[in-house]
Amino acid sequence: MKANTDLLIQEAKKNAALQAIKHVKDNFIVGLGSGTTVAFAIEALGKRVKEEKLRVMGIPSSYQAFQLAIQQGIQITTLDEHPIIDITIDGADQITPKLDLIKGMGAALVREKIVATASKYNIIIVDKSKRVNVLGENNQAVPIEVLPFALSLVKNKIADLGGNPVVREGKGKLGPIITDNGNMIIDANFGLIQNPQDLAIKVKNIPGVVETGFFVDLTNIAYIATENRVEQLQK
Ligand code: 5RP
Repeated sequence: MKANTDLLIQEAKKNAALQAIKHVKDNFIVGLGSGTTVAFAIEALGKRVKEEKLRVMGIPSSYQAFQLAIQQGIQITTLDEHPIIDITIDGADQITPKLDLIKGMGAALVREKIVATASKYNIIIVDKSKRVNVLGENNQAVPIEVLPFALSLVKNKIADLGGNPVVREGKGKLGPIITDNGNMIIDANFGLIQNPQDLAIKVKNIPGVVETGFFVDLTNIAYIATENRVEQLQK
């Protein structure tokens, strides 16, 4: 039963990814998000590159995205060479009807936000389990990337803001996880977040916070996959 459900979720993610890939045109610079859903998009983009001879260059938001893109034969470029990205495709951990997001459960939130901000058009692909009315539902914590030197200070300040800060531990590694940027991640549970913009500013203002997992007002369109169809959410 569980294996069957997992298979359906994988299929749903793939369908959302296929919708997103349709937006990519010849000569586009494409921001490549991170995560298991985006992996399907990178694979599908690689297929278009091979089969349609589509000329695109990718800007990966993590080592994971970088490696997948290379494997799929997608040419890589940098923000220095192409500071304006045509389109970015990324996943999310939560999404509201207003297209506000929590991201960062894959610890790639800093580069994901940089790529999204440099992008003219942002597409989010998720399965329906990520859809919520209010960010923070289901005890979802907000990932926050923190300079290791400032860890204790940031934990205290987040607690003052009503968040429950937990330093994320590694899997297959003892101690805290270290991000692609050499930092640590605090997962902060704030309960229901009615005003993510306001809270994002307060958290970002703490010295030592590199970036927060709040993605507000960045997304243009989302494809949300259910078992039998892909719903489109647009502002
Ligand atoms: C990584 C992210 C991912 O986009 C997010 O965690 C969703 O991942 P998945 O598609 O595997 O559920 O923000 O930092």
